[in-house]
Amino acid sequence: MHKPHLLLLPGLLCDARLWQQQAADLADRAHITVADLSQADSIAGLAEQVLAQAPAECFALAGLSMGGYVALEILRRAPQRVLGLALLDTSAQADSDAAKRARIDLMGQAEEDFAALVISLLPKFVHPAHLRDSALLEVITAMAHSLGREVFLRQQRAMLGRIDSRLGLVQIKCPTLVLCGWEDAITPLTLHQELATAIVGAQLVMIKECGHLSCLEQPQAVTRALETWLQRLPG
Ligand code: MLT
Repeated sequence: MHKPHLLLLPGLLCDARLWQQQAADLADRAHITVADLSQADSIAGLAEQVLAQAPAECFALAGLSMGGYVALEILRRAPQRVLGLALLDTSAQADSDAAKRARIDLMGQAEEDFAALVISLLPKFVHPAHLRDSALLEVITAMAHSLGREVFLRQQRAMLGRIDSRLGLVQIKCPTLVLCGWEDAITPLTLHQELATAIVGAQLVMIKECGHLSCLEQPQAVTRALETWLQRLPG
């Protein structure tokens, strides 16, 4: 069986641990690489790094949240290299003025007390029921502390400056999955309906009892959706 390369792009303050379950479950279906999105302070810079370090000329691309913003930038720069696109808990929109102000406020909080900020973000990241799952919260906080405050500030600067990707959505021709948690409080359902409506042939999957970090909150459901999507890839 031909195994495509699958590049997984994590979100804010996340690393390979975000995709751990999917990477294990899909290892016999794809050659999997998790990108590092910690080293540039623009979405364009992150996209360039991913493209430069990609393990193959052509690959399938799955990004969660900030990873989705980077995925859309990669599509803009090198659509011929992308075999398929999976956008999880993300958006094609740029920040509104209110969102920009909220981000700058978060950056200020990070400067003051990063550990307290991480704790305060948890209820935004996961479904309320998952706030009782200490193992899950431990993974999220461990990732956040491995990446740390400087990376948080860089990633926030990158997201702050990102452009609106909505006009480019009609150009996307590869098999596309749009997935989100029903209770995603950071990038809600309507943003995914917008993506799925604009991208021709996109499949929209909404996952119950799930917030923003779908890969960790409902790992099996996310794997199943990615499996179905991988079957749609050409060749
Ligand atoms: C993420 O999870 O990558 C971020 O929360 C997304 C954002 O802040 O827009």
